[in-house]
Amino acid sequence: MRTLVAAVVLGLLSAASAGEEGKIVRPPDGSILPGGEISIAARGPGARLELDGQVLPAHEPFPNVFHAKATPGPGEHSLALIWEGGRREIRFFVGEGAPDGFAAFRLHPPFAIDCRTCHALSRRGRFRFKGDCFACHDRTIFVESHQHAPHVLRDCGQCHNAHGSTVADHLIVDREQACKLCHN
Ligand code: HEC
Ligand code: HEC
Ligand code: HEC
Ligand code: HEC
Repeated sequence: MRTLVAAVVLGLLSAASAGEEGKIVRPPDGSILPGGEISIAARGPGARLELDGQVLPAHEPFPNVFHAKATPGPGEHSLALIWEGGRREIRFFVGEGAPDGFAAFRLHPPFAIDCRTCHALSRRGRFRFKGDCFACHDRTIFVESHQHAPHVLRDCGQCHNAHGSTVADHLIVDREQACKLCHN
């Protein structure tokens, strides 16, 4: 029994760490995109991207971080991120007439913004978020809407998908959950 429990726990742990290895941050699963060029962002060790089963050439602005552009036609598409020992797949829809379960995607920030506006490598070579949201957003408005000084909530990515999303304010957690990240 104990071995079984241990095996299950180990299985869960390795599933969790495999989940940490690769992710597609844009577009989110279930997005509806207008036609035209789309911008894809993802991370995974030695990973490749496949759009509808075809390898999608990608830039690697930082090690194991990928940025690709594509112009998929109208209809439903699958985007896969594949790395050794793992795989993530999301679906998105281009144009009008998406089935239930899809929602309109809003890009953030504007298309032309370079990844390096917000990202850099740490001294140890780790890909990280370096801040600078206030190059475009107003701190005074931030303090009003968040009720905290910017430095307390400096990990914007705890609550927002800064690459765009299908929900208001690009939130990835709801308000109640957001407070529980630090307060009980
Ligand atoms: C407006 C600022 C901003 C821009 C521009 C931006 N990002 Fe991000 N990105 C973030 C934030 C904030 C996070 C969350 C940081 C965290 O979780 O540590 C993040 C997280 C990520 C992650 C997940 C990292 C991880 O380890 O979980 C990837 C991959 C990523 N960004 C790729 C990109 C790529 C590629 C581009 C350019 C196409 C880009 N980002 C542009 C703000 C930005
Ligand atoms: C290069 C400029 C730029 C940077 C840098 C930037 N943003 Fe934005 N952001 C915008 C623009 C433009 C909008 C759209 C405003 C609008 O729709 O009125 C926006 C909208 C948003 C919204 C949605 C507000 C709404 O009205 O729905 C959130 C949330 C947001 N940004 C968070 C962030 C976070 C978090 C960062 C840093 C990780 C960041 N932004 C960095 C330009 C930027
Ligand atoms: C603990 C969760 C959390 C963190 C961390 C967080 N936000 Fe927010 N943010 C929210 C919530 C919740 C809203 C919606 C506020 C509302 O409903 O009035 C929001 C709204 C916004 C908006 C739209 C309203 C406005 O103020 O213009 C912007 C822009 C924004 N956040 C930027 C940021 C930036 C930049 C950071 C990092 C410096 C950040 N957020 C960190 C939870 C968070
Ligand atoms: C990233 C961690 C973090 C998150 C998320 C967070 N807080 Fe806080 N909060 C703090 C810290 C640190 C302080 C104390 C420093 C300060 O007052 O700015 C604080 C102070 C407060 C205070 C003042 C309490 C006092 O004793 O004076 C209130 C009220 C509060 N938070 C409410 C909220 C609410 C509501 C949310 C969700 C919308 C939230 N916090 C999300 C970290 C957080």
